[in-house]
Formats: sequence, C-alpha cells, structure tokens
Amino acid sequence: MQTLITRDAIRPLPIQDLVSEIENGLLAKVASISPKFLYDPLGSHLFTAITFLPEYYPSNIEKSILNQYQNEIASAIGENTTLIDLGAGNCQKAESLFGLLKPSTYIAIDFSVEYLNEALFKLQGHYPQITMNAIGMDFSQELKIPNTVPLSKRIFFYPGSSIGNFSASEAQTLLTRIKSQAGDGGLLIGVDLMKEDTVLKNAYDDPLKVTAAFNLNILRSVNSLIHSNFDVRQFRHLVKINHQENRVELYLEAQEDLIVSWPGNARPVKKGELIHTENSHKYTIDSMNKLLNKSGFKSIQVWTDPKQYFAVMYAQ
Ligand code: AVJ
Repeated sequence: MQTLITRDAIRPLPIQDLVSEIENGLLAKVASISPKFLYDPLGSHLFTAITFLPEYYPSNIEKSILNQYQNEIASAIGENTTLIDLGAGNCQKAESLFGLLKPSTYIAIDFSVEYLNEALFKLQGHYPQITMNAIGMDFSQELKIPNTVPLSKRIFFYPGSSIGNFSASEAQTLLTRIKSQAGDGGLLIGVDLMKEDTVLKNAYDDPLKVTAAFNLNILRSVNSLIHSNFDVRQFRHLVKINHQENRVELYLEAQEDLIVSWPGNARPVKKGELIHTENSHKYTIDSMNKLLNKSGFKSIQVWTDPKQYFAVMYAQ
C-alpha cells in the first residue's frame, strides 16, 4: 500500500503576493487581472462547464486525439512513470490516462488548491496503487518539484493548451524549466492551433454565455481576495482576435463610469474601458516545434486531428 495524500501536502500560496499582484494589475494604465484568478472554486466549475460546450472544441478534440493514438502515445512514453500534472484542476484528464500510462506516482499541481484537494482525495480512493501528491503552486512564477520525487521517468503533462495563456517568451521560460526537470522523461502537451475566426469566436463567446460567466466571475474572485467592490452587472464579456499576436484576447468592458475601490486604494473606470483578463495564444505545429526546440527539447512527436484544430505533442 502506498502513501495516501494528506491535507498537509497542499501548500497554499502566500496571500499577500496575490493581493499585490492584483493591485498592480488594477492600477496599471491598461487594467488587467491575471487569468489565474479565473479559477476560484466557482470559476473552476464554470471552466469544467466550458469543456462540455460543443463550441469549445479544444477539450473534445484533445480527448479524441489522445484516444485515437493511445497506443502510439503510450509506447512513446512508457510505463511506471511519475506523471506530473501541470494545472491538474479536477484531475480528470490525468485520470483518463492512468489505464494507458500506468504511472507509479501522480503529482497534481494547481494554483487553485481547494478544488485540487477535493479532486485528489476522491481519486486516491479509486487508485490506491498510485502514490499521489498535491502541490499548490504557481508554476508560471517558478517550477519546483520536491526532491522526494525521483528524477527518472518524470512525465510532465500539460494538456488543454494552457500554454496558450503565456506569451512566446514566457512559454519558452516555462518549457525550458520543464525540460531541465524532466530528466530522462519528457513532456506531453496539448496545443491549440490557429484557425478561422468564426470557430475561435464561437469557442470563446459561446451562445449559452458560459464563457461570459466564467470571465465575469473573475471580478468576484478578485473581490474575495482583495475585498474590492466590483459589481459584475457593470461589465460585459468581450472577445477580440488579435491576428498580429496569434491569440484570442478576453476582456471585461465597463458598461458605465464607475470607481472600484478596495482597502487603501481605488481606480476609476470609464464607460467602454476594458480590463484585460486573458490571452489564449494559438500555434502552428511548426511554431510549437520551434519553441520546443528553443526550450531544449530534441525529439518531438506530433498527433493531430483531420482538421488540424489541435495537436498533442510528446517532447523529450
Ligand atoms: C485553460 C487557458 C486553455 O485559453 O482556451 C476557455 C481558458 N478561457 N475559455 C483557453 C479559457 C475561455 C483556456 N485555457
């Protein structure tokens, strides 16, 4: 019998750092809130709801690629690995690979620790033979895998095209860190590919308005962290497609003049002013190959769907 996870394994992030990060964003000339604050408990559930939308193709296509090429992917990766899940969320994607990859250890890392804790507790009950550990970490700032995790056969799992939240240089920094900590293992990554505007628009501005709720909820998440007084009703969800930067951009647009305040500070916001909440960069197979090479990966295998909407890559 392997060790079970304990609540002690969860390391919550220092709240003061988060508060200053939010304040800096709100006080900047063009206001912004980091997308990591989208994932409070309600936001995490709303994101899960997004992945059920037919318009939100990334989850569905990634799943079908992983399913269609499971044997090739499994033989590229091998068994008895340490699966390190970056942005584990509800841990469902990793769980769907347990049968295929048969990892001996599963390390779930996420910014949103409450949600992670809940998910991992349930999971451990179903897979007592896998050693499990949860870590609360903002791996966009630093990636530190505890020394207790063996260096050999570390497989980093970074699905869902979450890499898209980063600029090219931030992405390179993160990928370089992953490479340096992967030892003789590798990285299994999901990458969203550039495509027609209409498909992107529908995926990020869905008719049921689930994405709008997900985006607007960041204001409530911020309210609870810094005790600000954002009123969700004063904003609307706005999506732009930036062709120069190859990305979808999410904003919240003020519907009237307002002043948002929190202990010690305030910021006036004019009607029509935008708060930037997320970038979702889109790649080509070629541009991601180059980025992975620049980050130190030498051998890269690629699997994609017939329309080339999404790619799954294994890099070593
Ligand atoms: C989790 C960052 C991959 O960019 O598609 C979904 C987040 N935002 N709908 C994405 C998201 C709006 C998602 N990632």
